[in-house]
Amino acid sequence: MANLHVIDLAGTETIISAPPGISLMEALRNHGFDDLLALCGGCCSCATCHVYVEAGPDSMRTPASDDEADLLDSSLHRQDHSRLSCQIAITEDLDGLRVRLAPAD
Ligand code: FES
Repeated sequence: MANLHVIDLAGTETIISAPPGISLMEALRNHGFDDLLALCGGCCSCATCHVYVEAGPDSMRTPASDDEADLLDSSLHRQDHSRLSCQIAITEDLDGLRVRLAPAD
């Protein structure tokens, strides 16, 4: 399991545990973060699973694919550390990852 720090839209920080093998988006939805709409279900086609990575491995701070980067470009709220949570696979080494939910566009 990886313990993840999640800051919701109201600024409240919660620590959740997520098993390896699911996406960060799935972990967030499983823990009731319903502000994260994830409308496409993780197909990398909606950008409604947008999060900001505030602390974690350097590899988390760069979009992993051109498709992800293109979708993030469509967001008015994109920041340097933006990621699509459906494109982040939970692994043990993400223990301590800190993410903030991005506002909806
Ligand atoms: S859930 Fe649609 S892009 Fe992530």
